[in-house]
Amino acid sequence: MKCFSIFIKDKSKNKKRESRAAHELRNQSKSDNSALSQTSRSLPSPRRIQELYKEKEHNLRVFSLQELRDATDGFNRMLKIGEGGFGSVYKGTIRPLNGQADPLVVAIKRLNTQGLQGHKEWLAEVQFLGVVNHPNLVKLLGYCCVDGERGIQRLLVYEFMPNRSLEDHLFSRAFTLPWKTRLEIMLGAAEGLAYLHEGLEVKVIYRDFKSSNVLLDENFKPKLSDFGLAREGPTGDHTHVSTAVVGTYGYAAPEYVETGHLTIQSDIWTFGVVLYEILTGRRTLERNRPTSEQKLLDLVKQFPPDSKRFKMIIDPRLTNSYSFNAAQKVGKLANSCVNKNAKERPTMSQVVECLKAAIRESEDGSSSVTSSSRMRSRRSNKV
Ligand SMILES: Nc1ncnc2c1ncn2[C@@H]1O[C@H](COP(=O)(O)OP(=O)(O)OP(=O)(O)O)[C@@H](O)[C@H]1O
Ligand SMILES: [Mg+2]
Repeated sequence: MKCFSIFIKDKSKNKKRESRAAHELRNQSKSDNSALSQTSRSLPSPRRIQELYKEKEHNLRVFSLQELRDATDGFNRMLKIGEGGFGSVYKGTIRPLNGQADPLVVAIKRLNTQGLQGHKEWLAEVQFLGVVNHPNLVKLLGYCCVDGERGIQRLLVYEFMPNRSLEDHLFSRAFTLPWKTRLEIMLGAAEGLAYLHEGLEVKVIYRDFKSSNVLLDENFKPKLSDFGLAREGPTGDHTHVSTAVVGTYGYAAPEYVETGHLTIQSDIWTFGVVLYEILTGRRTLERNRPTSEQKLLDLVKQFPPDSKRFKMIIDPRLTNSYSFNAAQKVGKLANSCVNKNAKERPTMSQVVECLKAAIRESEDGSSSVTSSSRMRSRRSNKV
């Protein structure tokens, strides 16, 4: 990776490298986005993400490595709450800048320099999260960026999300995520994506939508995390941006995997995959199942939403505590999102409207199903 090598090659120029890193936060390497650069030269285009970032960078706190060591008791393994492609995630406590308010619980992500991700993903995360502001996107509080004798240190400090991720709840054996909570989580996630696609001066393609990147707050309200793979969408007459194919197997849109052409519609496909995950309680890819059942999208084709068979793929853990009509609506929505023809997929605001209707349907139609299942559980509690 080009930017990455700037920081590790020449140990005798540490100071110079540090100032380059800060400089780069404002002026991302042109080579990262050559397709976009061409677009902005030929058309009167909206401001780029780097320009928007310059206006807002003062909102982010710059932490020293020592502050984050103190916050995590020296990156104590007991405080480690997760690990992903970027590196380890720790629960930590920081002191607010004014020193008056109570200490703040945060999540701290530390780049694993041996991993596949690096400075480029860290930079994208800081710039995109430094610009966006929406109740369904995780809040980045600040970052740490140090280039020392022993290599680079890149860390990110976020608001802490106490209920972990949608993935943790959806596929847990110990816990069943209720039907309406599933829909409300997907609605919030859809609103976050709609904001990225349609609510900013630049279109943002998120590129990494999946259940593990939907974090849940104390009230199970969802927030999207992980903007390391996010890209600015095409501007002007351009239909796509050309990039290397990255993402998570089982979630990426087929046309993007085949051509590397990234569009807003690639995110819609991925959203459809997660809709099927919440309907079925199955992961997009489950290698421990018989071959015909391993790929969720292949499996669900055999159970169309407007057939009676559809009931057979609904998550059995939901028992009868869901509205079948609403589930059908969600199934049809999922199908339209995973339409092979990208142009025929709905927009994110259409997805939002459809999910709201499914929630209303669940509320109207749920009284009999929910109250009868409540009766059952009350009875079973008594025994
Ligand atoms: N802000 C946060 N608050 C609380 N927990 C978090 C936060 N961010 C991440 N985590 C926890 O850390 C785990 C790992 O997150 P991370 O984003 O690094 O990896 P991932 O999403 O599982 O995989 P990938 O790298 O492929 O995106 C999450 O599943 C979640 O449980
Ligand atoms: Mg993640």
